[in-house]
Amino acid sequence: MSEPDQAREGDAEPSAGERTRPPLEIDVLTLFPAMLDGPLAQSIPGRVQTRGLATIRIHDLREWGLGRHRTVDDYTYGGGAGMVLRPEPVAAALAVLRRPDSVVILPDPGGEVFGQRRAQDLSERSHLVILCPRYEGVDERVRAMVDMELSIGDYVLSGGEIPALVFVDAILRLLPGAIDAESTAEESFTDGLLEYPQYTRPPEFQGALVPAVLSSGNHEAVRKWRLKEALRRTLSRRPELLAGRTLTKEESKLLASVQAELDETGNSE
Ligand SMILES: C[S@@+](CC[C@H](N)C(=O)[O-])C[C@H]1O[C@@H](n2cnc3c(N)ncnc32)[C@H](O)[C@@H]1O
Repeated sequence: MSEPDQAREGDAEPSAGERTRPPLEIDVLTLFPAMLDGPLAQSIPGRVQTRGLATIRIHDLREWGLGRHRTVDDYTYGGGAGMVLRPEPVAAALAVLRRPDSVVILPDPGGEVFGQRRAQDLSERSHLVILCPRYEGVDERVRAMVDMELSIGDYVLSGGEIPALVFVDAILRLLPGAIDAESTAEESFTDGLLEYPQYTRPPEFQGALVPAVLSSGNHEAVRKWRLKEALRRTLSRRPELLAGRTLTKEESKLLASVQAELDETGNSE
């Protein structure tokens, strides 16, 4: 087993090919820049920027606010609680930030549910702009200014900053050289399956043992065990993922043996 520090995510060296790719540029528009500054300076997002794989600029939307008070929102027509983001500050900000290669993203509870496939797609683009609304959301006319609306799930947050952090974090770790390729290749959803169970030291904890195969040194046996356990976990927790995926011959065989074990024991995991 490798030493913990060596195995830590984020220490991959970019290959020569990876280094030639220009950094992914991300502009974030927010009324609360401090909500993004801290998290994006830490851990993998921080290291990805230090290593020149991505450049993130956080802008205060009030820079494009109206009048002396830099107003960005107003009451909703027709009455009702809360303030709505006006279209003019957004249009003015996008007039400066949008480029021909930009993808402008609006976090919105009614948008496409963000998933690993979309994260992969966005990690391959060259420039992202993320607009973070607050309060009641945006004037409807803002939607025509963006390229996609993305949701992080069926619940309502107070603003777009946390969704923006979710998008950026998921995207940055997919950049070539951000973390070692093996980590992302085997993660949940990358291959349409949930990840297999992981173990670290100690070999025994309160009577629960690490499966012997994992310290057998037999790479083929480990690979097979992991694939089978990924299938078992996916079948038990997210069976719809299996329904939407074409299985290889090996996967079908392993899944059949998981199913046979289930029929025998009645336990799903
Ligand atoms: C309080 S919410 C507005 C909710 C809006 N009135 C509605 O009912 O759909 C303020 C902003 O937070 C962001 N937001 C909240 N929940 C979100 C989610 N699940 N996914 C993505 N963005 C979300 C959106 O940018 C939204 O405009």
